Amino acid sequence: MAEKLTMDTLVSLCKRRGFVYQSSDIYGGLSSAWDYGPLGVELKKNIQEFWWKEMTRLHDNIVGIDAAIMMHPRVWEASGHVENFTDPLVDCKNCRQRFREDKIPDENRIAKKCPDCGGDLTDPRQFNLMFKTYMGPVEEGGSLVYLRPETAQGIYVNFKNVLQTSRVKIPFGIAQVGKAFRNEITTKNFIFRTCEFEQMEMQFFIAPEEDDKWFEYWKKERWEYYKKIGIRQDKLRFHQHGPGELAHYAKDAYDIEYEFPMGWQELEGIHNRTNYDLTRHTEFSGKDQSYLEEVTNRRFVPFVIETSAGLTRTVLTVLSDAWEEEVVDEGDSRVVMHFHPLLAPVKLGVFPLVKKDGLAELAQKIELDLRGNFATFYDQGGAIGRRYRRQDEIGTPYCVTIDYQTKDDDTVTLRYRDSMEQVRIKIAQIPDFIAKADSEYRREK
Ligand code: GLY
Repeated sequence: MAEKLTMDTLVSLCKRRGFVYQSSDIYGGLSSAWDYGPLGVELKKNIQEFWWKEMTRLHDNIVGIDAAIMMHPRVWEASGHVENFTDPLVDCKNCRQRFREDKIPDENRIAKKCPDCGGDLTDPRQFNLMFKTYMGPVEEGGSLVYLRPETAQGIYVNFKNVLQTSRVKIPFGIAQVGKAFRNEITTKNFIFRTCEFEQMEMQFFIAPEEDDKWFEYWKKERWEYYKKIGIRQDKLRFHQHGPGELAHYAKDAYDIEYEFPMGWQELEGIHNRTNYDLTRHTEFSGKDQSYLEEVTNRRFVPFVIETSAGLTRTVLTVLSDAWEEEVVDEGDSRVVMHFHPLLAPVKLGVFPLVKKDGLAELAQKIELDLRGNFATFYDQGGAIGRRYRRQDEIGTPYCVTIDYQTKDDDTVTLRYRDSMEQVRIKIAQIPDFIAKADSEYRREK
């Protein structure tokens, strides 16, 4: 029977193998802040690059930008975040813990009793989720700025810039990846919800009457994307927001949810934001944000379909989905991360069967020659079986082993991570062989 992944197991693997560490660990850690280690940063970058390529290169008419995290404070008045981006919080008068009122069980909310200690709860107060800071050397004299709670606004305020400087016409999209910040209560779910996180957002500008069509298009596209990065389909589902869940800017919203170790949770949101944001920016900035459709000579404020994915949340999804503890033989099991080869932090492990008789030098030369093609890792330490297992645990999809036959005929054994099967191929074939295996990759279980 396959083991079920727990969050504790994942956190411990991530720490042990250098994917994710607790922030400021030597000082006792900073709650819900995490650092990405050598393998984690590669995984995160690979996911980001895959998304970027998918959105900008493989779709017509989508361009990218990279806007500043700190923006004019009026942006957040216009966007509605100053007024509406709040959580209802209650405090326990006894144990002093703070909770989101809408996240505590109904019986505690109605009785106004703490879910932890049974103490009395305060009345709910609306607490704005934006981090505030001051720009300028003196706090009082400086102007209040916010750390952006979503990257989307950096796109809206550049709508006209992009329109005037690129040859885009509606329908077109603008994509961005970057950090966002929300001062919210985070539960102990590792990198699932953190005050500082990364988003991969795309705003697609369309004619108002085409919103249903494009909304459906993007729902489908984004579902397909998760298939492409190898996420198991039975772990994904759509969840449509009910009236009480919709954000202040949304007319309709669907989450793509993933079944994480702690249950089903949002991975990405697809939102019909109507012309809300561009209309509000027209009002607040006094600068017209409408669009002139050349063919019809019609002027309108575009509607926006937004796809809003969490990059750091996708890292958690990919890690959770990849994990398997597999029984290999009686009394023998291995932990294997089934990363899609295009996301794996290390693509190829290179091992000499033994260190002696020139095999180590030969393996090192092969590894050096392949570095330009993909991320490689050379390992000569310990029994060959243990070296394979170490790579399985970090999700390296292929390993080649250099043995005595290599010296005679320039061949190596290439081992597949998932099936553990081995084939014998020529050294010169390795790059093409791997490129083909990548393109044909299908996870079997
Ligand atoms: N931009 C939408 C969101 O941050 O959820």
